[in-house]
Amino acid sequence: MLTHEVTTISTTDFAEDVRVGLERDGQKELLPKYFYDDVGFALFEVISQLPEYGLTRADERLLCRYAAEMIDGFPSPVVVAELGSGSGKKTRWILEALCRRQPTSYFPIEISASALARCQQELADLESVRIEGLPREYLDGLLEVAARRRPDQRLLVLFLGSTIGNFDRSAGERFLKEIRDILEPGDGLLLGTDLEKPVDRLLLAYDDPLGVTAAFNLNLLARINRELNANFDLTQFEHFVRYNYPERRVEMHLRSTTDQRVRIPGADLTVRLRKDETIWTESSHKFTTREVAEIARRTGFHCTAQWVDKEWPFAESLLLAG
Ligand code: AVI
Repeated sequence: MLTHEVTTISTTDFAEDVRVGLERDGQKELLPKYFYDDVGFALFEVISQLPEYGLTRADERLLCRYAAEMIDGFPSPVVVAELGSGSGKKTRWILEALCRRQPTSYFPIEISASALARCQQELADLESVRIEGLPREYLDGLLEVAARRRPDQRLLVLFLGSTIGNFDRSAGERFLKEIRDILEPGDGLLLGTDLEKPVDRLLLAYDDPLGVTAAFNLNLLARINRELNANFDLTQFEHFVRYNYPERRVEMHLRSTTDQRVRIPGADLTVRLRKDETIWTESSHKFTTREVAEIARRTGFHCTAQWVDKEWPFAESLLLAG
């Protein structure tokens, strides 16, 4: 069953975030949420299939194997809200397990309307699942779902794929607290987190020999060219990845290979970059299972179960709102 609402996401926020991030005197920055236009989504789908990048497959394996166990502790009826719809492939396992018990409502929340449409298509064959995509920022969408659920319905929030790892650690905790504040005691959050692993394995995952992650990173500049009329010359930048040991995270940057000046009329900005100066585009923090349980406690949840993939260390944690 499908219902789909179309909203246009304005370019004003994008222009403002680009201006603020590139006007900095120190480290220039672009926000990773802007990777995901249509081209970025398509490139991320390819990344997910690369032999070097095991994260998405580990997430999928756990959901496929343990979906029934994961929802076991949840009394029916359940409303599912997913932060970031992804392709919908991973979510299928949870929805199938839930709708074996009874019809289920599923709200993917995602700022990209085209990503939502793809997710809805992928899951359209699930007869007993009512899907309603919400083209909103995560917390706005979640507030809406919480306001619309019936008093007898439990809310299960899915935050998969280690997207939490793309937040700074303190911002990630603040975000989990905000989720907790929207939930009622007994509601749940299924949280996917990528775990620490040997650094050479991580560096290869984010700097694959085929160059797909490099293209994914460079597409951010191409997107600024397309949407804000800029004149970034992509041949004058290179993908650069490093592991930040104290912060336990992989960082992706775009390094200027020359002194250059770039015009971005849509953000009313001219940026000067020195040779070897970088624009920081993404952090992917890595976790331990114990750390996730502690974060849960600090943010008002109780971690009731964890499932860990051995092939590519990755954890699914079930957090119950206390
Ligand atoms: C979506 N996110 C969890 C991915 C990650 O691993 O941080 C995005 C990504 N960036 C480079 N490759 C994949």
